[in-house]
Amino acid sequence: MCGIFGYMGQHPNAAELVLSGLKRLEYQGYDSWGVAVSDHGHVAIDKHVGKIGAATTTLPLSSMALGHTRWATHGSVSDENAHPQLDCVGRLAVVHNGIVSNEAQLRRALARAGHRLRSQTDTELIAHLIEDLLEQLPESPERLVQATMAAFRKLRGLNTITVLDVRRGEMVAAKSGSPLCVGHAESGYLLASDHAVLLDHTRRISFLHDGQAVLLRRDGMNVYDMASGHELTPEITQIAAPALRSDRGEHPDFMTKEMLEQPELLRLLAERSPSYVRDLAARIDQAQDVFLIGCGSSGHAAHVAQYLFARAGRRVHYSTGSEFSYLYPFLGSRSLVIALSQSGETIDVLQAVRAAHERGATVAALTNVEGSTLWRSADFTLPLDVGPERCVLATKSMSAQLALLLLTSYALSRQLDLARTSLCRAADDIERLLGASSRTEIQAIAHSMQARDHVYVLGRGPNHALALESALKIKEVSYIHAEGFAGGELKHGVMALIEPRTPCIVLAPQDETHADSLASAMQVKARGGTLIGIAPEPQPAFDHCIRVNDVGPATLITNTVPAQLLGYELARLRGRDPDMPRNLAKTITVK
Ligand code: AGP
Repeated sequence: MCGIFGYMGQHPNAAELVLSGLKRLEYQGYDSWGVAVSDHGHVAIDKHVGKIGAATTTLPLSSMALGHTRWATHGSVSDENAHPQLDCVGRLAVVHNGIVSNEAQLRRALARAGHRLRSQTDTELIAHLIEDLLEQLPESPERLVQATMAAFRKLRGLNTITVLDVRRGEMVAAKSGSPLCVGHAESGYLLASDHAVLLDHTRRISFLHDGQAVLLRRDGMNVYDMASGHELTPEITQIAAPALRSDRGEHPDFMTKEMLEQPELLRLLAERSPSYVRDLAARIDQAQDVFLIGCGSSGHAAHVAQYLFARAGRRVHYSTGSEFSYLYPFLGSRSLVIALSQSGETIDVLQAVRAAHERGATVAALTNVEGSTLWRSADFTLPLDVGPERCVLATKSMSAQLALLLLTSYALSRQLDLARTSLCRAADDIERLLGASSRTEIQAIAHSMQARDHVYVLGRGPNHALALESALKIKEVSYIHAEGFAGGELKHGVMALIEPRTPCIVLAPQDETHADSLASAMQVKARGGTLIGIAPEPQPAFDHCIRVNDVGPATLITNTVPAQLLGYELARLRGRDPDMPRNLAKTITVK
């Protein structure tokens, strides 16, 4: 998963324009970045390892530029392996998102043909392939796009590529897998791997579909079907501007901004979403089988929903996106697949959705990004409506997914208003948790844990899934090894991990699991573990208690917030970047 941004038009300093686009795309990959422009018939390039931060560029003025932010797949994190990658003569600059699975074979063939390969990347091979094919094709207005499509057909795996030919003054992109779109601006054409970063320039967007290529010149664009080579009529979609700010305003980072937005967003969901959730509940009632899928935090929200729907008398099947293929045989025309994805671009979820459609199933999506691939491919979409989420950690999107699924489960049992009231009470309690006095308490707990290498989180019922989510938040932002367990599994092995002062977080809400959760806490205590209770009241076993009031069914949502805050404080104490944790990215578009 990488960020791609390109420009072709009248703007005198395309490098600057492209660099500001990359800064907004950096959550898609931040191992290295690079920009290429045209400089008297040759590519001039500026590329670096690490995050862009406040970097500027000294590239020459040019009205065409191509940029990239990298999440390393093939080849180490180095200047040589940063994109764009060049052909032998410095005429073509290529950027890429994906994995070329026949890389080794292509590398051998190109080396045998005498190409000078400078990097370890699969991407560089694409530049040399196009270089080869350009030489083989007769001159024509479509020579570059024909060469690029022919090169693309030689690649195996899911790939999205863009090439800038500084001699022809043309840019060509081809897509299969990760997202790419074209912005139609007054001064020219923009190309990006996330349409949201184009909305400052234009609202008129053409989304590239799998198997399509696009040719951009200063004075026009053409779209092609790669299988037939035929030209297509470009589709232009007018996208509404997001309601919420996409910059971090006065907040120290996006994680803080997005955590603080949760209470108001939950109140708005309680107010606005009833028609959506009633529709989804009706579709669940009509379906023979219901499947819930998602990855990471979205997967955890789907896992919680399995318990919520069971409480409403509906058996549903939950699966993490990458493991869903084992349930394909059970999909049919009376199946409903509910796909959760904040970005709407997670490759494992998109592949599962495609497989579901191929088997006649109906797909409902809970997603946050209007115009995303999931948004456009689902039969029915429930918008999370939380505005852009820039921090890699899912916070407001997770609580919004839980809120929509909770409301749906109560719509199923005809008690929607009860859930809406509880949701508003949860919003108030989250506001209290995000307030100064509870932050101070959580900072003190983080202080006591910051030097620990391992943290365990226990929960029962739907809080088992929230224990997994809490552990995910702590590990992905603080890099402490945190692991979540079903409380009942403690004595089946986990207990061997408990040593004196081992931090153990216990989710102990006032529900049917309360007594058993406290019993687990006592057993950990007996082995010297340090207990951090997340509960309505302090308990004798707890060394620390993060108080979460019992506000009814939506207490589940409040229970996600303590680990957000604890993870954040641990990250601050350990000097980690809360928005862009190492080795991660916000949108996972490669397998
Ligand atoms: C969560 O904090 C992580 N960033 C990650 O697990 C994320 O939830 C996962 O990649 C799924 O993303 P999606 O919701 O955009 O599909």
